[in-house]
Amino acid sequence: MKISNRVARMSPSATAEMAAKALEKKKRGLHVVSFTTGEPDYDSPSSAQDYAFRAIKDGKTHYPPTQGIPELRRAAAEYYREHFGLSYESNEVVVGTGAKQLIYSALGCLIDPGDEVLILSPAWVSYVEQIGLFDGVPVKVDTSDTDYIPDLVRIENARTPRTRAIIINSPNNPTGVVYTSETLRAIGKLAKARNIFIINDEVYERLVYSEGTSPQILKECPDLRDQVLNVNGVSKSFAMTGWRIGYALGPAELIKAISDIQGHVTSGASSISQWASVGALTGGQEDCEKMRVGFEARRNLIVDLLSEIPGVGFRRPNGAFYVFVDIRGFLRPNVPSLADDVAFCLELLDKKNVGMVPGSAFLCPGYVRISYSCSEADIREGVKRFAEFVSEVTKG
Ligand SMILES: Cc1ncc(COP(=O)(O)O)c(C=O)c1O
Repeated sequence: MKISNRVARMSPSATAEMAAKALEKKKRGLHVVSFTTGEPDYDSPSSAQDYAFRAIKDGKTHYPPTQGIPELRRAAAEYYREHFGLSYESNEVVVGTGAKQLIYSALGCLIDPGDEVLILSPAWVSYVEQIGLFDGVPVKVDTSDTDYIPDLVRIENARTPRTRAIIINSPNNPTGVVYTSETLRAIGKLAKARNIFIINDEVYERLVYSEGTSPQILKECPDLRDQVLNVNGVSKSFAMTGWRIGYALGPAELIKAISDIQGHVTSGASSISQWASVGALTGGQEDCEKMRVGFEARRNLIVDLLSEIPGVGFRRPNGAFYVFVDIRGFLRPNVPSLADDVAFCLELLDKKNVGMVPGSAFLCPGYVRISYSCSEADIREGVKRFAEFVSEVTKG
């Protein structure tokens, strides 16, 4: 069978691959510590559950409006008003099947074949694949040697007349870095001057720890209102990954175009899940805060434990639930099982039953992503085994 070139050139998700390998070992009865998870290990808020049950009982089980039920669009707009002081009308909000699908649809609306999209790497790999699916060109701007802070000169140098958009993601997956107001203002200024559209992926925006807040690009640069799509959702903030609800707020023309795509592709997101999300946004704030506090304690724990391991370098994350660790000092080009970050992760899983995601899955070879969305006991045990592993590697 001939699969189209644009699909055939897609690479499989390394995160899913490592998670599947870890699960396979667990099924064999081994005590595997999986640091691969990309989702909160908390329950969805009870308000979300209540709304979902009620929606089923009330027969809200038919096709919803393609753009999203008005109640959820209103709740999302109200959330942005309350949290960021930004006001959006309901025709400027669209609900989709996760933030992922909304970013995909937005790219479909923004780029023609050959158009370029700037990506600040390390980055979530789906951006690259999604751009490729529209025959666009992902252009990587490296931040790994600038403390994961985008360098404006590099962005400017990567820009060409074909540059249509830039994707920003703060708090960041995989680094946990939260951009400062100054960084956002600088990116905004450049985007304005060069007419580059900004896809602002802020799905981790609620998971920011005590030493900082999560600045918002439009709050910093209000004159960019026609040039920014804010993408958010309930997956990470409310531990609702399985409900598959995201929402986006931006210029009405783009919102309509995204909705038009949905009209032909999904017919809108699940009505039950949309009602559950209304419940989360209107009644789940306490659950969200409880989760944030829980993640902060785990972040503190894992950072303390990792800091004690000789040769392990990382930037202290202040958002999301990941630590991105530099393992280049432990790689051995002449030893196949340690030749690169992928081999390193496979060997670590094989020898110590600890799962991590290789940095190359985030366009950043030589690193690993550790998700601390697991119990404190697992964090202690997993880091202990990781320390043993790198110590054995160092001793050769
Ligand atoms: C940076 C980033 N953006 C978007 C998403 C997608 O979220 P959703 O579950 O809403 O599709 C993820 C999920 O892992 C993510 O890490």
